Amino acid sequence: MKKILITGGAGFIGSHVVRRFVNHYPDYTIVNLDKLTYAGNLANLTDVENKPNYRFVKVDITDSIALNDLFYAENFDAVIHLAAESHVDRSISDPTAFVMTNVIGTVNLLNAAKDNWKGQYDQKRFYHISTDEVYGALGKEGMFVESTAYDPHSPYSASKASSDHFVRAYHDTYGLDCVISNCSNNYGSHHFPEKLIPLAINNIKNNKPVPVYGKGENVRDWLWVEDHARAIDVIFHKAETGETYNIGGHNEWKNIDLIHLLCSIMDKKLGRQEGESAKLITFVTDRAGHDLRYAIDSTKLQEKLGWIPSLQFEEGLEKTVDWYLENEEWLSNVTSGNYQSYYEKQYHTK
Ligand code: NAD
Ligand code: DAU
Repeated sequence: MKKILITGGAGFIGSHVVRRFVNHYPDYTIVNLDKLTYAGNLANLTDVENKPNYRFVKVDITDSIALNDLFYAENFDAVIHLAAESHVDRSISDPTAFVMTNVIGTVNLLNAAKDNWKGQYDQKRFYHISTDEVYGALGKEGMFVESTAYDPHSPYSASKASSDHFVRAYHDTYGLDCVISNCSNNYGSHHFPEKLIPLAINNIKNNKPVPVYGKGENVRDWLWVEDHARAIDVIFHKAETGETYNIGGHNEWKNIDLIHLLCSIMDKKLGRQEGESAKLITFVTDRAGHDLRYAIDSTKLQEKLGWIPSLQFEEGLEKTVDWYLENEEWLSNVTSGNYQSYYEKQYHTK
């Protein structure tokens, strides 16, 4: 019996983690905390929302009083912390929002755990979900390992790096049981269509230009989101306190090659002539400070905890395309903003 607080559970990765924990651990109570920003969508969780071991609470992690009250009332056994502002381009136009949620919000959560779990740190766990972007950018060679020095470049990655440092500081200073994982780019269902893959699927479907930054030479290491959720499950249950694990798919793709593969899958699915969708590719101004290449070495996770990715990229990408084509209502809701007006009515907030 465990009561686990999962933050950011209405977002892309968080909803997969909530679904996995609710379904795999019927003895656990899963409390999903989310502010429901533009990226949080309870429609991601309709299949588990009525399960007896699941609850949702609408809380903003920048609200330290609300967090403290919640920890006091609930006596959680553990936190799996995913809530964050997650989009690099938004961090370039509004860095402060990233400091507030990713840095201050994480420190608020750490404080709530530190103050409410006093005398019981050995029975509690604070698991922080982070990103490979904290390590900066690679050249053509090499991979990020857990000991790679932090060198973030975007306001997003700087805020995530800062939150990682705070988590380690609370482990080293106060003895809180903390674990961190740093993962590469995820893809799969329920991904908000501002990120490359769902944005491209949506645009190809609607015959709109597919924007490729710069020359499309940047490389990302893509992992199936359900493999990430499974890694989080393994790390949560098996990692030693204070440890960090890198999670990645050993699956590097240049953006332009990925987009061509996606266009060819979409041609087949939409009954278009081969090459038709690729005509939509449009090279646009590069992202400022655009990291050239990410690649994760997840040997430690594979050897120590026995996790390996389950899905080949081509298969995963096709499944992802199928999901978006079969879930038109989800896509049109999130692109029209209907779901945000629903929340405003439901929760009387903006
Ligand atoms: P997302 O943007 O899809 O979801 C973030 C969730 O956090 C949303 O539900 C949002 O409503 C919630 N949230 C935002 N601000 C909040 C606040 N102040 N209080 C409470 N809730 C708030 O993000 P994602 O892609 O699912 O990423 C989840 C986590 O995983 C993040 O910490 C991110 O840094 C990390 N990560 C993401 C990737 C990736 O490829 N997407 C890879 C590695 C790590
Ligand atoms: O590496 C993990 C990170 O992956 C996570 O921590 C972030 O939360 C997540 O958003 C993601 O960051 P990226 O910046 O790599 O993802 P994004 O989908 O925004 O972009 C992927 C690549 O595609 C990147 O090189 C920028 C490029 N791109 C992106 C968009 C949105 C384009 O060329 N065109 C676009 O329209």
